[in-house]
Amino acid sequence: MKTLILNGSPRKNGDTVSLIKKLTSELEGVIKIIDAYRCDISPCIDCRYCWKNSGCAINDEMQEVYKYIEDCDNIVIASPIYFSELTGKLLDVGSRLQTLFCAKYFRKEDLNIKPKKGAVILVGGGDGRIEKPYETACTLLHHMNCYDIYDVVCSFNTNEVPALEDKQAVEGVESVARFLGAKNK
Ligand SMILES: Cc1cc2nc3c(=O)[nH]c(=O)nc-3n(C[C@H](O)[C@H](O)[C@H](O)COP(=O)(O)O)c2cc1C
Repeated sequence: MKTLILNGSPRKNGDTVSLIKKLTSELEGVIKIIDAYRCDISPCIDCRYCWKNSGCAINDEMQEVYKYIEDCDNIVIASPIYFSELTGKLLDVGSRLQTLFCAKYFRKEDLNIKPKKGAVILVGGGDGRIEKPYETACTLLHHMNCYDIYDVVCSFNTNEVPALEDKQAVEGVESVARFLGAKNK
């Protein structure tokens, strides 16, 4: 089983990462984590290469991610909420999925991406507005042929209570692990 996790947090030991660590400790199989703030992935520049050609003209770490997306079993989007959205750097990475969109709508190409399960983990210092980032995360998951998406896991009020001390969020992550494929303990 192969899982791709897209981490939208800049904080090495922040709330998102603490929930990602909890998830990876429970998940079976091979896991690839892309740290949106540290990876070598540039944003899409709308060069329109992919309107007519397969793949993407930008030769960076995203090329590996495209391959991983083709045959992985699960994708998890985990992010803090910034101004009621996923973080900008995560959206930069997400923008590179434009070639997958163009395959369908411009190139009329069958992409052969394995259908997969998905999950979304969101953390925020605020009061729990997740509609926008959740919708964006689902859009990105859909572009990666991920339609079987588990109930969103969120932790709010992280300024006061760290996500790892939020019982509901931790239990949510445990359920996500079972849904995607947990280790036999
Ligand atoms: C630029 C910025 C914008 C933010 N906007 C929101 C917001 O709209 N809603 C919210 O609940 N929290 C917001 N926060 C708080 C973060 O989501 C919160 O601190 C989160 O726990 C950080 O996650 P991390 O530790 O994984 O990086 C914002 C924080 C920053 C730095």
